[in-house]
Amino acid sequence: MAETRSCEFGISGMKRAAAADSFEVDDEIFVAKKSMLPTLAVAPAAWENDPAASLAGLRHEFGEHGGINMSIEASATFTVMEPETMRRMFTGELGPDRDFFIYSRHFNPTVLNLGRQVAALEGTEAAYCTASGMAAISSVMLQLCSSGGHVVASATLYGGTHALLTHFLPRTCNITTTFVDITDHEAVKNAIVEGRTKVLFFESISNPTLTVANIPELSKLAHDKGTMVVVDNTFSPMVLSPARLGADVVVHSISKFISGGADVIAGAVCGPASLLNSMMDLHQGALMLLGPTMNAKVAFELSERIPHLGLRMKEHCRRALEYATRMKKLGIRVVYPGLEDHPQHHLLKSMANKGYGFGGLLCVDMESEEKANRLMHHLQNSSQFGLIAVSLGYYETLMSCSGSSTSSELNSEEKALAGISPGLVRMSIGYTGTLEQKWSQFERAISRMEVDSTLFNKN
Ligand SMILES: Cc1ncc(COP(=O)(O)O)c(C=O)c1O
Repeated sequence: MAETRSCEFGISGMKRAAAADSFEVDDEIFVAKKSMLPTLAVAPAAWENDPAASLAGLRHEFGEHGGINMSIEASATFTVMEPETMRRMFTGELGPDRDFFIYSRHFNPTVLNLGRQVAALEGTEAAYCTASGMAAISSVMLQLCSSGGHVVASATLYGGTHALLTHFLPRTCNITTTFVDITDHEAVKNAIVEGRTKVLFFESISNPTLTVANIPELSKLAHDKGTMVVVDNTFSPMVLSPARLGADVVVHSISKFISGGADVIAGAVCGPASLLNSMMDLHQGALMLLGPTMNAKVAFELSERIPHLGLRMKEHCRRALEYATRMKKLGIRVVYPGLEDHPQHHLLKSMANKGYGFGGLLCVDMESEEKANRLMHHLQNSSQFGLIAVSLGYYETLMSCSGSSTSSELNSEEKALAGISPGLVRMSIGYTGTLEQKWSQFERAISRMEVDSTLFNKN
């Protein structure tokens, strides 16, 4: 019998020996009926208003030979001692909660461990990781909405999500979306059709405009009409915990801050165990049947980065606040939720987990695409402040002109509705080098802009 090692503060347990189909341990948890023990449920961890406390309360997964890091279960398929066990696994009588695995498109132990970490991070009962953020979003929408279903969504969303809701889901599944200004709660309420609207979808901090959603109020008004709330928290892991504020489901593009390395594409769905289990159902599960599975080796890599996510977020946010404050002093039109003049500054302060700051992204509005491009050119090629690239959450500063890149799926009317100006430069603030060194690089690029022309708009 193999033993699963665990920290004294975690949940200890005996693991089924490799290829053994029965247990020696007469532990209640192992004899619980499947219906009593959701496959994906995690033990509620300490929260203390800080996701770091929740993460630290999680069972530490040791390696098979006592390694301090968990082992990678790099198997696509799993063996059993008796054919009868296979039948019982397929009926759902035996599952991952009892260490019975079928096939890695279904459950994989390493991916499941990462899911436990992400669930602890978001304070949800369960989570499962996917091959991309879009896989997480599309799978949730398909699971929650049947053909003919209706969605109410924020008009300001990542371009891919906007296109999914505007073009793909109506064409392929007859799932339609009404887009609203998420800060206009009356409009949101009016758009939700009781009995028909299955999902209210928004980003906690919107891409790219950095509008902050009032998660508690939006959740309440959706729940009053029997509508589920799905929140994309890609821009603010650790900073905001949407499920703790009332949302039902939280989705992530792990490719961003959670990864931090800009080397992996990945996503997660966090929510009630009942939802996650339904998504893995052999007959009706969007994750099981569409198959946007995360590879176990990728899950291992990501799992090693979650323990320092909090430290990274604090530094991304600290620098973003400092730069935004200094940019404002220079007369630059800067949007940052940490600034007092941001329309939702106080709302964000009231919802945020203390000590993490106000997010690692800021936007500079250069008014025209031409000026935006010139600024980015100087910031990259004259002074090495950052890299012209889409994505976010990397240790280097990344910058892109949203209207012509990650929001280019929106037509000009949709961009205007979303509040995306043609000269909006989104910056994901990195933490390499010293803050002063990087700031002097920023100033140098601004001087080059001013030398180039007098077009730079001081106000
Ligand atoms: C807010 C947001 N959600 C979801 C996604 C999609 O994530 P992925 O690229 O991992 O599929 C992105 C990608 O840019 C994003 O910015």
